[in-house]
Amino acid sequence: MTMLHSAPPIGPDVRGDVPGPRSAVLLASQQRRESNARTYPRHLPIAIEEGSGSFVRDLDGNVFIDWLNGAGVLSLGHNHPELVAEMIDQLGRLTHGLDFPTPAKEGFIDAQLSMLPAGMRDRMKFHFCGPTGANAVDAAIKVCKTATGRGDIVSFQGGFHGSGSAAMALTGLVAQKQPVRNGVPGIHFFPYPYRTHCPAGMSLADYGRGCASYLERSLKDPNGGIPLPAAVIMELVQGEGGVVPATLEFVQQVRAVTRELGIPLIVDEVQTGCGRTGTWFAFEQFGIEPDVIVASKALSGVGSPIALIMYDRVLDTWAPGAHTGTFRGNQLAFAAGSKAIEIVRRDDILGNVRARSAQLMTRLDVLVDNPWVREVRGMGLMVGIELADPVTGRWASELARRVQASALRRGLIVELGGREDCVVRMLPALNVSPEVIDIGAGILVETIAELTR
Ligand SMILES: Cc1ncc(COP(=O)(O)O)c(C=O)c1O
Repeated sequence: MTMLHSAPPIGPDVRGDVPGPRSAVLLASQQRRESNARTYPRHLPIAIEEGSGSFVRDLDGNVFIDWLNGAGVLSLGHNHPELVAEMIDQLGRLTHGLDFPTPAKEGFIDAQLSMLPAGMRDRMKFHFCGPTGANAVDAAIKVCKTATGRGDIVSFQGGFHGSGSAAMALTGLVAQKQPVRNGVPGIHFFPYPYRTHCPAGMSLADYGRGCASYLERSLKDPNGGIPLPAAVIMELVQGEGGVVPATLEFVQQVRAVTRELGIPLIVDEVQTGCGRTGTWFAFEQFGIEPDVIVASKALSGVGSPIALIMYDRVLDTWAPGAHTGTFRGNQLAFAAGSKAIEIVRRDDILGNVRARSAQLMTRLDVLVDNPWVREVRGMGLMVGIELADPVTGRWASELARRVQASALRRGLIVELGGREDCVVRMLPALNVSPEVIDIGAGILVETIAELTR
């Protein structure tokens, strides 16, 4: 069988059943041997043989466009050859460095700092965490609690911050936390500016401002019930929450009130970071500077795990050993991550994100005439299609599930998210070509038209 990287595909190629017989064997084995909590293969039933760029091939030889993309991790696609070469080179020198300084880490920090707005570079310190977004979220909360001496946290409805106990407690998804009693206390949820789902039924135009004003008044109300919090944590685009971009007014007002009250603002850029929205970090597009940035997924560009927080040095009051972790020194990820930034600059990857995003939105534009499509929205290459029943107005989760399954059979892997999983989500590689965008968008448009006919 031809290897994907030796003969790069130009499009998907699905010939047999999905899952095919060889995938089915591994899926059955997984069901027997792995946890009931497993997720992706339940709805995307394939066993993966290899990946290259925007494509993966399953064990049965079917080739798919991959817009799940390792949950947004593979910013330069599967196995980018230059990142692989960088990792192989590093592999012969040092792989694991705990939190000792190393040349690979030093280069990585330099590269990351160079991507921050100039005014923030001297202000921010780094802490490398255990290699998951959730662990870095935990660190962000701890550094803010320690520095302020306070215990409460404000988070937003619909947000997702991970599956560790603290990160899960900050997450909106009730189903995940309901079975796990005695979670982290002191977390207060406020509404997020989600145009098609305002819990207070406010008009679309006012919603962003309304959410921020509600938060501001609650925090300033002596009878508001919430002690001054240690931090406010937010995503700039809720990813797992259904690709919901915050509004400019909302973000700016939240920044203004947190600054006025001396509350550190944490932006969770685990999914939006590293170029996903068309700037290195999404906060740059909202004209704010946060106090803490949480980053993980795409930091290495190639899926080598790494997670960190960058935070204002005034918050650096925690003690030595306050947030340890064995796997904080992934040298392969540092080497690949520095190279990824070099490539992002050299190949104008951020320009590609903006151009391909505009192309994708234009191609999906026809969907707005379909009564089952409530909204097509996103930022950069983080795009979602929200489906809702035109008669009842209910989230059309069953339709979304069928769109996902049907798109897979046509050769496109997409994820779902949002309330009751009613949003079809796209996270293409940031170096995706115009041809792949065209084919992927075409599959979705045809699939949704066929299933709603
Ligand atoms: C915004 C955000 N924060 C945190 C996380 C958790 O990251 P991890 O799964 O690596 O713990 C995710 C994962 O999807 C995320 O999207």
